[in-house]
Amino acid sequence: METMMEVEAPAREQFLPFALPSIGEEEIAEVVDTLRSGWVTTGPKVKRFESQFSAYTSAPHSIAVNSCTAGLHTALAALRIGPGDEVILPTFTFCATANVVVHLGARPVLVDIGSDFQISPEAIERAITSRTRAIMPVHYAGQACDLDAIYTLAASRDLIIVEDAAHAIGATYHDRKIGSDGLAAAAINLRRATAFSFYANKNMTTGEGGMITTANEDLAQEMRVLLLHGMSKDAWKRYTNSGSWFYEVVSAGYKNNMTDIAAALGIHQLQRLDGFIELRQRYARMYDEAFAGLDVLEIPIKHSDRNHVYHLYAVRLNLDRLTIDRSEFIEELKELKIGTSVHFIPVHLHPFYRERFGYQRGDLPQAEAIYDSVLSLPLYPNMSEQDVRDVIEAVYHIAETHRR
Ligand SMILES: Cc1ncc(COP(=O)(O)O)c(C=O)c1O
Repeated sequence: METMMEVEAPAREQFLPFALPSIGEEEIAEVVDTLRSGWVTTGPKVKRFESQFSAYTSAPHSIAVNSCTAGLHTALAALRIGPGDEVILPTFTFCATANVVVHLGARPVLVDIGSDFQISPEAIERAITSRTRAIMPVHYAGQACDLDAIYTLAASRDLIIVEDAAHAIGATYHDRKIGSDGLAAAAINLRRATAFSFYANKNMTTGEGGMITTANEDLAQEMRVLLLHGMSKDAWKRYTNSGSWFYEVVSAGYKNNMTDIAAALGIHQLQRLDGFIELRQRYARMYDEAFAGLDVLEIPIKHSDRNHVYHLYAVRLNLDRLTIDRSEFIEELKELKIGTSVHFIPVHLHPFYRERFGYQRGDLPQAEAIYDSVLSLPLYPNMSEQDVRDVIEAVYHIAETHRR
């Protein structure tokens, strides 16, 4: 029965959005400088951003693209994923991870996750068939997957790895940055690429944008060609005095290149990234401490061998302790002027994936149970400590009002 506790509702004056970017004066000045320079598309600022990104992640090759989706697509295409191939990925991800596999005519094989919300290496192993060509681990929320296990599996079965690091710029695994070379011993000889997102709500943003990293020189070269129409090397220089009008199309490539306007933002966002991450981690600790004793929810599981950069702070409601469900919890938070979101609706529950590949509810039970009870609380550097306290107070208020 619902206990009718008299808990005064916390009152915020303004709605707290779920996510907001932190754009500073340096970013604005750099964009203006780009606009005035006469070179607005792929050019010197993209080159600068790529080399800064390589320095930050210790990735031998960094290739700027116009989204993480484009990065994943380019990497899989350059690795010759196509019809007849199976690609294993977690169902608990954004649809983009699976959509790109479908675009290439391959079959996405969706697998379940563990209690840490990350792809389960055991589930990957069970899903491998003679048609499996690649694994796409997703570093959910900004914490690395169990990479040792995944790389070892890939090495023993000769599988490609394309990591979806949309959430994970700055995250580490065994003290190495996601996207870097040699993240684990088993990674050394893998054909491997990693794609990052700079979408508006990510830990750093270029509005829309992404980056692919790889240690493999040939793969890097192939991706550079593929992402710009399949035109031969350095086609972007053709309007400069160091370039030439002549180019050859060596594959039916894409239009996935980043603009200098976006890179202008990225150059400064990257310089501020560690500061952003520190704030995210501080606010995550405030949430962790406040919610540790609250029995209606579970805080995110954190692994001690990984630096979690908290792109998301996703909690799991204990629905058997509440008289309301997750969607009602979200509505109540909204009434208290707190924005939230849900990450993710499992891919296998979307109509396209059900109809095309025959998935149904019940197929991947752990992801489904987590989906029914998960919600992401606001967490970004533009929040104040008072905003964080307001979220905590609102969660407590709803918990006390609707405790079973
Ligand atoms: C896990 C995951 N993968 C891929 C993407 C796609 O990123 P982008 O919008 O940069 O294409 C997102 C975006 O939110 C994501 O959350």
